[in-house]
Amino acid sequence: MSSFQHHTQLEDGTPVLIRLLEPSDEGEVMLGFTRLSSSSRFYRLMMNPSHFPDNLLKKKMARIDDENDLVICAWDLSKDPILGIATAMYAAAKDEPDVAEAALTIIDKYQKRGLGTILLKALAYLAYENGFRHFRGYFLAANQGIVKLIKRFGAQARYSGESILQIDVPLYPFVQDSEFSH
Ligand SMILES: CC(C)(COP(=O)(O)OP(=O)(O)OC[C@H]1O[C@@H](n2cnc3c(N)ncnc32)[C@H](O)[C@@H]1OP(=O)(O)O)[C@@H](O)C(=O)NCCC(=O)NCCS
Repeated sequence: MSSFQHHTQLEDGTPVLIRLLEPSDEGEVMLGFTRLSSSSRFYRLMMNPSHFPDNLLKKKMARIDDENDLVICAWDLSKDPILGIATAMYAAAKDEPDVAEAALTIIDKYQKRGLGTILLKALAYLAYENGFRHFRGYFLAANQGIVKLIKRFGAQARYSGESILQIDVPLYPFVQDSEFSH
């Protein structure tokens, strides 16, 4: 799995590379945060910090070497130098060996172009290969983008707090006939 790489394209033909996050990507991850609108930051973090909180950055970079957790990233190959445009990750849920908690962030200019769908499928494929069977996610009920995206995969959302939805979705439907399997 350490060599996962996938070439794809957005709905408008923009060429994109998806691969595992590497330690040398830290600077691009920090820059990516500056390319997010305040609403995207809020939807992802459920708070609105002006810069990427240090502890979150460390947590994300630490996951690179953790066998239970995984982070993938997407790059726009039409830019020179190539531009980091998204990350997606999962982390093993506590005390539930086949459940992974998943989250993804796409910079605003690249949203609604099909990347969320592709990244979620890639992440699900990798999670399934690593022995997980369900994704869990928490997000704000007002987040129409993610609500629409996860409904595509048959996920049922339920309230887990006043404005927070929780979804639990089996991974198998994501990985059937997956374009990521070789
Ligand atoms: C939510 C998010 C991951 C969706 O990614 P995306 O690349 O826009 O998703 P896709 O392009 O694959 O779109 C899937 C569907 O959702 C729709 N959609 C995406 N964003 C939307 C929005 N803000 N409002 C309404 N619909 C939206 C798309 O139009 C598409 O539907 P369609 O095919 O019928 O047109 C992305 O908007 C994002 O990163 N947001 C900020 C962080 C966040 O909210 N993360 C999720 C919580 S962990």
